[in-house]
Amino acid sequence: MTGLRVEGVYKVFGRRPNEAVKRLRDGATREDVRQWGTAAVIDADLQIASGETFVVMGLSGSGKSTLIRMLNGLWRPTAGRVLLGDDDLGAVSAAQLRSIRQRKVSMVFQHFALLPHRTVRDNAAYPLALQGVDKAERRDKAQQALEMVGLGQWGDSLPHELSGGMRQRVGLARALAADTDILLMDEAFSALDPLIRREMQDQLLELQQTLGKTIVFITHDLNEAMYLGDRIAVMRDGRIVQVGTSEQILSAPADDYVAQFIADVDRTRVLTASSVMRRPAAVAFAGGGPRLALRTMRDAQVAAAYVVDRARVLKGIVRDADAVDATRANKDTLEGIVDTSLTSVSVDTPLSDVFAPAAESPLPVPVTDEKGRLVGVIPRATLLEAMVPPETHTPAEGTPVAAEPTPVLDTADAAPLAPLSVPGLPDEPAPAPVPADDTTEVRA
Ligand SMILES: Nc1ncnc2c1ncn2[C@@H]1O[C@H](COP(=O)(O)OP(=O)(O)OP(=O)(O)O)[C@@H](O)[C@H]1O
Ligand SMILES: [Mg+2]
Repeated sequence: MTGLRVEGVYKVFGRRPNEAVKRLRDGATREDVRQWGTAAVIDADLQIASGETFVVMGLSGSGKSTLIRMLNGLWRPTAGRVLLGDDDLGAVSAAQLRSIRQRKVSMVFQHFALLPHRTVRDNAAYPLALQGVDKAERRDKAQQALEMVGLGQWGDSLPHELSGGMRQRVGLARALAADTDILLMDEAFSALDPLIRREMQDQLLELQQTLGKTIVFITHDLNEAMYLGDRIAVMRDGRIVQVGTSEQILSAPADDYVAQFIADVDRTRVLTASSVMRRPAAVAFAGGGPRLALRTMRDAQVAAAYVVDRARVLKGIVRDADAVDATRANKDTLEGIVDTSLTSVSVDTPLSDVFAPAAESPLPVPVTDEKGRLVGVIPRATLLEAMVPPETHTPAEGTPVAAEPTPVLDTADAAPLAPLSVPGLPDEPAPAPVPADDTTEVRA
């Protein structure tokens, strides 16, 4: 499989592109160099791993399509290098470039142009014809690709017999039939109505699980970006202003422009338990006995404590009343009073799946790692708080919307803290850093 590298890439359209690049390198802005040309892409650096789904987003005119067209060699950079695997697209001959474009990269556009008088199957087989693949093999591969996108029955139909969504699927089938390592998708789903669009997103994710292609996907829609992308690059005025995972971008937007973008994303689908969990207020050691558990609850001013074993594996919770009874009965252990009915979530659980356990649980929902160890808890208030988008100010007309990251997600919160310590438990390193316990604080 093939990864992609973009190194110091500029693309300027216009009369004197090199002059514009020189000035951009000296710190000029897109506006400053207008007289020499349109700086569509400015000093782009990217490394896209083989098998990664990489999303590029940004407002109209920010340079997304220009960037992706340089990735398939349709346009040569004015400066800088684009590498597909080991091939430097700027250095190869025209014939090599043609061969790379046929064999290594496929592209799907927003308005996919199908050949109107050819069957759906012939349309899907089109890139194979260009590759010089013989007829029988073309037919087989095109049929397979049509089946992958759910159009196996439609091979003999003509494009006009298909709905818009189905025609877009033929576009995807065409790209899949070519069987290239790299798939470039420029607003490929943007013209589809929302339900079909969602279906296509699901289908792409499903296909990607088995195909493992390197996908560069352009979209205006942040929900789509976060749903599909392993990582996301945000472009503004020709520059890449931030690259990161959805969580990184949501929790620490690089600037107001990015913050404005993420203002209306469905955060609960993107953020996971680990990004909002807090340190548990009271943790009792299973072997520690009811008195120790009570003291822990008293110190933390809570009515129940999480119970963990020596390996910090979560066993359940113990309530104060039960611990008091056990103390009166002179018991030395928590045996028989640990309530194990508690639902825990894993660090990777999306917040949307934490609501149900949170509604049922009297205590903050415990978060466990892959070994079942308690690594944090999610109080209901934290869950609700995490849904609030970064605060946006109502802009005066014509001015950009400024936004600040929401307090719960600021970087200070994400910093690792001292390990979780449990009374009565020897102090070994905690399995994972747990963010600060501020469950008792009222946050601004
Ligand atoms: N062939 C071209 N000749 C001149 N200018 C161009 C050309 N292609 C793009 N541009 C300019 O480069 C800038 C970036 O355009 P590009 O199409 O890459 O943006 P985009 O992010 O894909 O926008 P959209 O979301 O509207 O598709 C724009 O200012 C555009 O006008
Ligand atoms: Mg575009």
